[in-house]
Amino acid sequence: MKLLVTGGAGFIGSNYVYHVLNTHPEDEVVVLDKLTYAGNLDNLAPLTNHPRFRFVQGDICDRDLVMNLVKDVDAVVHFAAESHVDRSIEDPTVFVQTNVIGTQTLLDACRKNGNKRFHHVSTDEVFGSLGATGMFTETTSYDPRSPYSASKAASDHLVRAAYHTHHLPVTISNCSNNYGPYHFPEKVIPLFITNLLEGKKVPLYGDGMNVRDWIHVEDHCRGVDLALRNGKIGETYLFGGRSERSNMELTQTILFEMGFGKEMIEPVKDRPGHDRRYAIDPSKAEQELGWSVQVPFLHGLRKTIAWYKANPEWWQKLKNTSPVGAGSSRPTPSNSPNITKPKTLLDEFIADVEN
Ligand SMILES: NC(=O)c1ccc[n+]([C@@H]2O[C@H](COP(=O)([O-])OP(=O)(O)OC[C@H]3O[C@@H](n4cnc5c(N)ncnc54)[C@H](O)[C@@H]3O)[C@@H](O)[C@H]2O)c1
Repeated sequence: MKLLVTGGAGFIGSNYVYHVLNTHPEDEVVVLDKLTYAGNLDNLAPLTNHPRFRFVQGDICDRDLVMNLVKDVDAVVHFAAESHVDRSIEDPTVFVQTNVIGTQTLLDACRKNGNKRFHHVSTDEVFGSLGATGMFTETTSYDPRSPYSASKAASDHLVRAAYHTHHLPVTISNCSNNYGPYHFPEKVIPLFITNLLEGKKVPLYGDGMNVRDWIHVEDHCRGVDLALRNGKIGETYLFGGRSERSNMELTQTILFEMGFGKEMIEPVKDRPGHDRRYAIDPSKAEQELGWSVQVPFLHGLRKTIAWYKANPEWWQKLKNTSPVGAGSSRPTPSNSPNITKPKTLLDEFIADVEN
């Protein structure tokens, strides 16, 4: 199978690309990624000369580019998104552009190219916030609270509409909070690990009692791949780690594992509209896809801490560049043969000078 993976230079997308190339020796992968602040070609650097991999820098909202790329693949696995809740509170517009318009652009291209298979990667945040009990299931009503989750909810609806209206062969997955290698250090687990490696305190929102259900990114990627290959068309599958813990508990575990005490916690003002609790019931994926969690939380966390300790050159430059606005692009390293990027006037000027 030949796959177009959007957002494949991001955290989960890049982990998914490795999963596909390692587990499906016949498959080919084309990544389409705009390389926003969150996209990082270093995540894909080991694949530079891989014969079954190609990278294209571009925007999922670029209709002509998307049409051309979709024409040449069997299926689209759609990860590309603006994904950071705090950024969506500051500037929601780019979230609507990429997460809503971008998703519709991909759906249109799939439809116009003979109804190509489409798997949409979404989040449990579309379901809103839980009280002390209960779990999200595939039938939970949507109740998004942040511009990020509202834009993802809109994209889920558009994917379902494409199935019902145009019979596009789609599946959707909604997953809980991921952690693991290549996670941008603005998100809580890598932020805390890298702060501690730098001897800095860790900023903990509010009373620390917000609860999240943590899943290792490898488990999520296996789930997405099972949904793509074995999922029933038109269906939604929820993936979660069966590993709920409060942010305070999470923080204390990271501090303990890295040899620090509570004095390294710096309480900070809570995020506006901060959802209290998320929890996923992944029974449907377990029963229908034969999926289950393979990476227990403590084991996954230790592996993740070890990865950040072993790869300071990966995260230090991301932390050192002051965060650029959501939606802006990062430069592409020029020494990667499998990478196609649009020519700029500067490229042409350099080529002229070199010739
Ligand atoms: N991180 C989580 O815990 C989590 C949980 C559930 C679902 N998800 C979903 O998984 C997907 C991937 O999340 P992530 O954490 O890897 O995100 P990420 O921010 O690390 O990566 C997003 C990628 O999309 C690219 N991108 C952004 N706008 C683009 C555009 N207009 N055109 C092309 N590429 C663009 C970025 O450059 C980046 O490489 C998202 O759809 C997100 O909603 C994430």
